[in-house]
Formats: sequence, C-alpha cells, structure tokens
Amino acid sequence: MNGKQGPAGPGGEGLSRERLFGMMAGFKATAALRAAIDLRIFDELDDGPLDAAGVAARLGADGRGVRLMLRALTGLGLLTALGDGRYALAPGTAELLVTTSPGYCGGIVDVAAGDVEWRALGDLAGTVRTGGPVPGADALAPGFPFWVDFARHTTFVTERVADVVAEELAGFAADRPGLRVLEVGCGHGVTGFELAARHPGARVWAQDWPEVLAAARGHAERRGVADRVAYLPGDAFTVPLGGPYDVVVAANLLFHFDRARSARLLERLTGVLAPGGRLVVAGFAPEDGREREQVQAHLLGLLLLSTTPGGEPYSPDDYRELLTGAGLVDVELHTRPGLLPVALTARRP
Ligand SMILES: C[S@@+](CC[C@H](N)C(=O)[O-])C[C@H]1O[C@@H](n2cnc3c(N)ncnc32)[C@H](O)[C@@H]1O
Repeated sequence: MNGKQGPAGPGGEGLSRERLFGMMAGFKATAALRAAIDLRIFDELDDGPLDAAGVAARLGADGRGVRLMLRALTGLGLLTALGDGRYALAPGTAELLVTTSPGYCGGIVDVAAGDVEWRALGDLAGTVRTGGPVPGADALAPGFPFWVDFARHTTFVTERVADVVAEELAGFAADRPGLRVLEVGCGHGVTGFELAARHPGARVWAQDWPEVLAAARGHAERRGVADRVAYLPGDAFTVPLGGPYDVVVAANLLFHFDRARSARLLERLTGVLAPGGRLVVAGFAPEDGREREQVQAHLLGLLLLSTTPGGEPYSPDDYRELLTGAGLVDVELHTRPGLLPVALTARRP
C-alpha cells in the first residue's frame, strides 16, 4: 500500500489486467447473446446439429455472419462444436434458450439487455456530466414500453423477496381472513399475488399503467388467483386508490423517484392504509461500505441516473426516514442471507 490506494474489497482480489479486460469486453458477449436470441439461432439447432451453411440457409442470413456467430456462441459455452463442422446446443441451452421450452428465459434479454438499457447507457459519461434522464429514455413517462416487457419477463427478480414479504406478514395476514392488499407500481404483481396464493380469503388491488396491468393479469391467471384480483390502471400519484387496505406494497418502485416524490407517494399510500395496517417497501437497498457485494444495486443506480430525473437506490436508513416521515411506526428491516433485495415493513398507528 503506498497511501494512494485503499484496501482490497471483501473478496480480497485486487485489480488485474485480466479482470479489467473482462469488464471492458463483457459487452461483446451481451451483444452476441442478444443477436442469437433475436435471430432464433437456438431454435434452428433444436431439431438436431447443423453446419453453418445449414443454419444460414434456414435463417436466410449471411454465411460468414452465421459462421462467425456460431463460433462465438461456442466460445461462450452456448453451443458445442461436434468437430465435423456441425454445431449442437450445449447442455442447458435447449431448456433455457429454445423458445418452445417451458423453461425459456431468452425474453429476459429484452429487459436485462434490451434496446432501452443498451441505448440509455450508451453515453454514460455524457449522462454523468449532464445528469439524466437520457432523451427518449424517461422510465417515468406514461406508456414507457419497457415496463410491459419487464412485467412479462421478470417475475424472477421479485419472487424471492415476495416470499420474504409473505413470510414476514404470515401472522398478521392469518388474523385477517379477508385481507385487502394494494400493490402500487405492481408490474408483474408477484408480491401481491403471492399473498393471495397463501391466503385464500385475500383480495388484491393491482395498480400500474393500463398496458402493464394486462401483463399482470396473465401472471394472476397462471398463479390461480385471478378471481381475487382487481385492477387500478393509471398514475399511482393521481389515480383514486380506494381502500382502506390491510397491506400496501411498493416493490422496486420508490427508487425511481426523488426523495420529495417518494415522500409524497408514501403519504398517499399511508392515507389508504387501515389503522394497524402494514406498508411494505421491497427492493434493493444498498448500504455504504458494502459496495462490492451490492454491485448490482449500484449498477442499477447508473440505470436510474440514465432513465429517471431523480431516482437512486435508497438505503435502509433512507427508507426508515421516509416511512417514519409518512407517519408510520415500527419500521422493521427484513433480510435473508444471500438475497440482495430487502423488505421493510411499517405499521400505521
Ligand atoms: C421496476 S418495476 C417494479 C415492478 C414490481 N413492483 C416489482 O417488484 O418487480 C416499476 C413499475 O412501476 C411502474 N410505475 C412507474 N411509475 C408509475 C406511476 N407513476 N404510476 C403507476 N405505475 C408506475 C412501472 O410501470 C413498473 O411496472
């Protein structure tokens, strides 16, 4: 240590040329995967191995382009070269990347590496200089199409923390046979739907933009709770919210807004909670000093910079301040080992 550098991160690994190059070149792997999913290359190989000319013929694509793409996908471990010029799907690829597979998750690419994020982060240095959001990438604009893809494909982002919420509210919900749950900015809606699935008398009011609620409806049907879900389409800041509710959930939502707007929304949500009801906030809540283990939350911070006027990942202490500022009490933080998102619950007196 020479006084210019701080200590290594918790993993103890220092910076090396290899690690740095991996970070620099990582976008090429993302680009190859995006393109392969878009071209449906994995579907073409699902019927059996083919050589590059065979794949190119089926796709009606450029022979050289396909040849180079198949080699790159083999290098990434998504295909296997059979040694006779033909390529086959590597183990796991058929299950996860062939569109007819029940386990298909290629659609997630539209969210995790879709055009919106790809373009929004394209001039990050410029955005850091001038502030966000990037023109045309304002995630808070009504009808922002990204949210429909998000609601369709990313239940996995929230499922584990939805379980945490359901576990922590189990006793409270058991005492209220006709539990009334409002989930604002619900997206896919899994947090509210999980409560409905665990408590047969519970009803859920799912709130989001109208086109997003169409995707939420599909998830409610698949989970067998659709007959107990009502929809409140519109802007969470202005749409009549009804109530009173026993539970109000804001999952992966507040960090899109600056503090003043978050506080305003929390006050509104507290206003539709029954006395004794619980307000739940869930999502990433990174803490100072844990940046290395919470890197995904901080990378989300850059996305929020690029796609919102004032959003940022709030810490548990920030949420505590916001929740008590809205007049709520008994704020509790709920975490699970190995799970990055957290849940906070608070009670209306
Ligand atoms: C990151 S997603 C979170 C979805 C879900 N709650 C979850 O936990 O994954 C943010 C959601 O907030 C919704 N949203 C953003 N601003 C909103 C507003 N003003 N009114 C209603 N919904 C809004 C978006 O449409 C999107 O579905």
